[in-house]
Amino acid sequence: MQEYAEFVKRVHKKTGIDLSLYKEAQMKRRLTSLRDRRGYQTFSSYFEAISSDTSLFDELLDRMTINVSEFYRNRQRFDVLENKVIPHLLQGKKRIKVWSAACSTGEEPYTLAMILSQFLPLSQIEIMASDIDENAMERARKGIYPERSLKEVPAHIKQKFFRREGAFYHVSSEIKRCVTFKKHNLLADEYEQGCDLVVCRNVMIYFTEEAKNTIYQKFSRSLNRGGIFFVGSTEQIFSPNKFQFEVFDTFFYQKG
Ligand SMILES: C[S@@+](CC[C@H](N)C(=O)[O-])C[C@H]1O[C@@H](n2cnc3c(N)ncnc32)[C@H](O)[C@@H]1O
Repeated sequence: MQEYAEFVKRVHKKTGIDLSLYKEAQMKRRLTSLRDRRGYQTFSSYFEAISSDTSLFDELLDRMTINVSEFYRNRQRFDVLENKVIPHLLQGKKRIKVWSAACSTGEEPYTLAMILSQFLPLSQIEIMASDIDENAMERARKGIYPERSLKEVPAHIKQKFFRREGAFYHVSSEIKRCVTFKKHNLLADEYEQGCDLVVCRNVMIYFTEEAKNTIYQKFSRSLNRGGIFFVGSTEQIFSPNKFQFEVFDTFFYQKG
């Protein structure tokens, strides 16, 4: 068997992450460059090394998961969420069930809580947030961010929900209380049901076409009729009707 394929198998066994469902060229390039940088010539010697050195292992996990995020990422889309999607979802309802999947370090679910706070009392906002990467979610729970993560945050929101301490911004505890973080692997775990809004952005780009199709199918089942699926700004779905979706706005799909 090809050396990389064997590595993928062993990583799957060790971490539960099946790299064969991620686009191969891109992932292999990322991992080969890390392996080379650490001085291993083969994937099998690199695997031996990560098995006995937790810092090398954590570094590999970090490399596999790609955690970049920011508040109000692609701000215009969040403006559509605020001005069109949320008012639509809240018609005749006082609560909505929201899931931020592949939430990384928390900027996305906290953004959702900040936006929802303009419509509902904070005590009625519950957002489920998940990611495969526990380390990223540990940072999310702390809620402390550098200034560059906040560059798209509207001034009134920044003033209301962040406290500056030195070079860092702390998310207010009332916003933190709205979000529950839980580990979830999109490729292997059960999906939440009965959602009104599912947000899954900037992770589908890493998956194979086959894996994407399965994931869209599962998200579609997660949503209530009329619920909305919000995707990343490079992640348009080409045949939404295959998954019982209709275009609601650019990068927003409604479950039929
Ligand atoms: C680039 S971040 C996206 C963060 C946020 N959604 C955003 O758009 O800013 C991609 C996230 O996907 C997560 N991820 C990768 N594979 C995953 C999987 N199989 N299941 C769940 N999360 C996964 C990574 O851990 C990472 O935190």
